[in-house]
Formats: sequence, C-alpha cells, structure tokens
Amino acid sequence: MPGRLTAPDIRAMKGRARIVVLTAYDACSAQLAERGGADVLLVGDSLGMVVLGHDDTLSVTMDDMVLHSRSVSRAATRALVVADMPFGSYHEDVPQAVRNAVRLMAEGGARAVKVEGAAHLPAVKAMIAAGVPVMGHLGLTPQRVAELGGYKVQGRTADAADAILREAASLAEAGCFALVLECVPSPVAERISAALPIPTIGIGAGPSCDGQVLVFHDVLGLYDRFTPRFVKRYAELGTLAANALSAYAADVRSGAFPAPEHGYDMSEEELDRLYGGSTRGK
Ligand code: KIV
Repeated sequence: MPGRLTAPDIRAMKGRARIVVLTAYDACSAQLAERGGADVLLVGDSLGMVVLGHDDTLSVTMDDMVLHSRSVSRAATRALVVADMPFGSYHEDVPQAVRNAVRLMAEGGARAVKVEGAAHLPAVKAMIAAGVPVMGHLGLTPQRVAELGGYKVQGRTADAADAILREAASLAEAGCFALVLECVPSPVAERISAALPIPTIGIGAGPSCDGQVLVFHDVLGLYDRFTPRFVKRYAELGTLAANALSAYAADVRSGAFPAPEHGYDMSEEELDRLYGGSTRGK
C-alpha cells in the first residue's frame, strides 16, 4: 500500500532516525499509536496479559494473533505492522513456522513477524525465504519465562552478554531486519547496537538502541498488575477512565443521565396515533 513503511524502510532508518515502536492490539490502539507518530505497530503477544487477562504470554494462540493483527492492520495507514509469533507457533519444525508466519501476513494483514530467541534460525531463514520479514527478539524473552525463572534482566555477566551478542549477530546474518533487545544492561545493548548492521529496538535496554518499544497500556497507565522499572507512564488514563465510568454509574443510579437532550422526539401526530387518541399523561 502506498505511503506504508516497509521492513526495508525500518532497516534503513539505522543511523538516520530513531525508530518509534508501540504495541497495538485493535483498531482503536492502532489509530492512537499512529496519531502519536509510531513507525511500527507491534501486535505483541503481550496481548495475552494486557487485553486477554492471562498471567503471561504463553496461552496466546495463532487465532488470537490473527484476529488482533487483522484489526490493527485495517486501521494502520502508515506504520509497519509486525505480528508476534506466539508460543508454540514456530517450535515444532520449519514448515509449521513458515505456515504460521505466512498466515499472520495473509490472514492477519501483518507485513512482518517477530520471533523470540535465536534457537530457531532455520525457521527464521525459511520465513525470510518465503517473503516474510522477521524481527528478532533477544535478552528477556517472555515466552521462556518458565525456563528463565521469572522476568529477570539478562546478560549481566560478560559471558552471558557475549552469548547475546553472538545470537544477535546470527539473527542479523540470517536476514532479520531489526532486533528487539529486552531487559539487558545498557552497556550490553550499546555494544550490540554498535556491532549490528540492523537497528536494535530497546525495551529496558538503555538509551543506546536505534529505537524504543513500549506496551501501549503501560505508556498510558492502563495496566496496573505489574509495572516494570523500564516503563515510563506518560498518562494515567486508567484513573481518568475509572473516574469517568463511576460518574456515569452515579448518574444512571440518580436518574441524572439520560437527560431529555439525550433522547429523540416523535411528531405530535404520530404520538396521537400511538396512543390511539387517548390521553398520555398531559
Ligand atoms: O509482546 C510484546 O509486546 C513484546 C514487546 C514488549 C517487545 O514482545
């Protein structure tokens, strides 16, 4: 579609402009994120926590991702829409991974997918060969939360940092157009960002990445169950919304809403017909 940013456009932004990424899960969040100037709308599997009410991202299904990607894609006019490959959708074998990545584009309308970790390089290469741009994701990869033992900062030792650097290089070499770095020490993200030819998108990775991503609900103060230290809340819409909704509830209970101006009239003639000429409380 003309005017839409593509994966190669995002890759070419490295060293030229910082890349603004926001998650989006439906038409409303997509429109707002684009009005805010997002270059990339990430239909993240954080969907499971902030929209679907799960405790983690592991229960998110391909059907969930297709439905929400389609909704975001319909609303997006400029930003690149990237859909997360959910847990279990690329872990079996290469054909399963390619089939699901293609589905996110063909049915979900996404124009790229994101894959966590570097353990599935053959699948990543096959997706790219099939025409699906892939964004990598290293550091804290929430789909491995059970194995990692919680949402912990990764790469805090020199060996662990080197391992992430090697994985990052292998993903760039495989053809990924960008790489999310989540919860790694700032100097590690700085080193990886300087070494890679593709843009890094940080979240809890300090100021040296080529771009930044945050979860829509975190930026707006709409998700209270857990706020990581790397989140900056730019508004407290949850409080505003709750206040507005309790004012509505109070008005309904007191009869203050709806008022006459919120209703619709009928002509006198039709009213007379309705009441069959009888009085109607005049
Ligand atoms: O699922 C998600 O929203 C993500 C971002 C936080 C990077 O993976």
